[in-house]
Amino acid sequence: MADSDPDLPASTHDLSAQFRKDVLVGLSQPQKVIPARWFYDLRGSELFEQITSLPEYYPTRTEIGIFRECCPKVADLVGPGRVVVEFGAGSAAKTPLLLDAIAPGAYVPVDISGEFLRESCVALAERYPDLPIIPVEADFLHPFPLPAEAGQGCALGFFPGSTIGNMTPAPAVDLLRSMRASLGDDAMLLIGMDLIKDEQRLVAAYDDAQGVTAEFNRNLAARINRELGGTLPLDSLDHVALWNEPLARIEMHLRATRDIAFEVCGEPFSMREGETIHTENSHKYSPTSADLLLLAGRWEPVAHYFDKEHLFMVVLARAISTDMTA
Ligand code: TRP
Repeated sequence: MADSDPDLPASTHDLSAQFRKDVLVGLSQPQKVIPARWFYDLRGSELFEQITSLPEYYPTRTEIGIFRECCPKVADLVGPGRVVVEFGAGSAAKTPLLLDAIAPGAYVPVDISGEFLRESCVALAERYPDLPIIPVEADFLHPFPLPAEAGQGCALGFFPGSTIGNMTPAPAVDLLRSMRASLGDDAMLLIGMDLIKDEQRLVAAYDDAQGVTAEFNRNLAARINRELGGTLPLDSLDHVALWNEPLARIEMHLRATRDIAFEVCGEPFSMREGETIHTENSHKYSPTSADLLLLAGRWEPVAHYFDKEHLFMVVLARAISTDMTA
């Protein structure tokens, strides 16, 4: 990159070039869109951490409650000695609930950000001094080999947080199939999926009274201004969370409150009053649609676990081992 900082390491170059490309391409679409992965700079990650403990944001605490209840039952179904492969750096609140219950053979967190990985491993290593912990720095959207040091145990994939819901169905199925390929024939998968519920409750979870989610959303525009020389007028971009009923998803947008014009990397853009930049999807499932998604991704549901209010669901599934019925 001729105009990027020669002192930065190559991966930083790649990332900022990718960010610039995603933003310039996304802002040139008829419906402006920015891929949600760019939310998570340092500030974005802090804000997301705050979101998980907001009164309106039910998914995190509800899923933790389900894990408390179901992990002993999961232990009976998966047996001891599993290699737990977590997609994403471990969550301090969720991962121990699983590891405490199932007598794992090894723990393998997989994340694209080596920094987050190393941090979460240090804490877990203190807590589980006898458990082999082998972090893998990889983009888990594509199949990757399990590390030999993890041993011969069958794998148990762990994908909490309804993160699968942040993908539209086709890439979500691609990801499930890729997990299936990485984890092998005898693998199982424990996955969190958020359920369809009344619209008010759904929208409130993504548009909290304190405005933390709004700040999280607007931080994306602020990041463009900081890192790509953008001039987006932040005070003329409203946070919008809406329920898209036919697609069963919450969408987050940034909506122009007046006609605006701005630049990013020297390129001019404009938005009419009311026009939006689409920044995030969070798909919600029924037990049936969740099962169909898993089956399409070559995972057969074995058990479903719910909280009392049926706000959220955790599914245990087993790898489908043959294409014969396809
Ligand atoms: N996967 C979670 C969800 O969809 C967490 C999440 C991802 C999130 N992006 C978000 C939460 C944006 C709030 C706002 O709920």
